Amino acid sequence: MSKLKVRKAMVTDAGAMAEILREIGWSERRNSLPLGEVTGPIASLLERFERDDGHEVFVAVDEGDGVVGFVNVHWVPFIMLGALEGYVSDVFVSPSAGGRGAGSSLVKRVMEEGKKRGCMRLMVTNGRDKPSYKRGFYRKLGWTERPQVVNFVYYYTEPWS
Ligand SMILES: CC(C)(COP(=O)(O)OP(=O)(O)OC[C@H]1O[C@@H](n2cnc3c(N)ncnc32)[C@H](O)[C@@H]1OP(=O)(O)O)[C@@H](O)C(=O)NCCC(=O)NCCS
Repeated sequence: MSKLKVRKAMVTDAGAMAEILREIGWSERRNSLPLGEVTGPIASLLERFERDDGHEVFVAVDEGDGVVGFVNVHWVPFIMLGALEGYVSDVFVSPSAGGRGAGSSLVKRVMEEGKKRGCMRLMVTNGRDKPSYKRGFYRKLGWTERPQVVNFVYYYTEPWS
């Protein structure tokens, strides 16, 4: 099996990232759209992030530079903390490349970047019903669940409604 590595995402990775989201299949609506309609918004965000150091996307690639997974982190300045919190919004690995260390390598890369930036902590939301939560994906990487914190959201629209 070929070795995986992690590099910064490029705008041209958008199509492969869209394919991964569709393979994972969390949204029937997204999976019913033409691929270009899923790729376009991802490419726009990647273009924006190239000009804005407050956001980063890394991809895990195989030996042929094929994208098998990605992570997206946002470096959020907190007044209360007097420091940055890194908010990890997306961690996705193609099911066909699962269990080969891509997900762990992507999160570890974010952990290294946060350290370089003098970040105070990283944060992610993880569905309790998801295999990643049940199998302790973040715990194994040294992350701690905060029992005293509840995650509220305010919806303008349902995701992918
Ligand atoms: C969770 C996910 C990123 C793991 O990626 P991966 O490349 O398969 O992970 P790794 O190979 O680095 O495995 C790391 C650990 O995750 C766990 N793991 C492996 N496959 C997994 C899977 N399909 N689902 C959940 N956890 C898994 C394993 O326990 C593994 O630990 P181990 O090596 O001690 O057994 C990937 O399954 C995925 O994209 N899932 C859907 C999206 C998601 O849940 N994202 C994370 C929550 S925000």
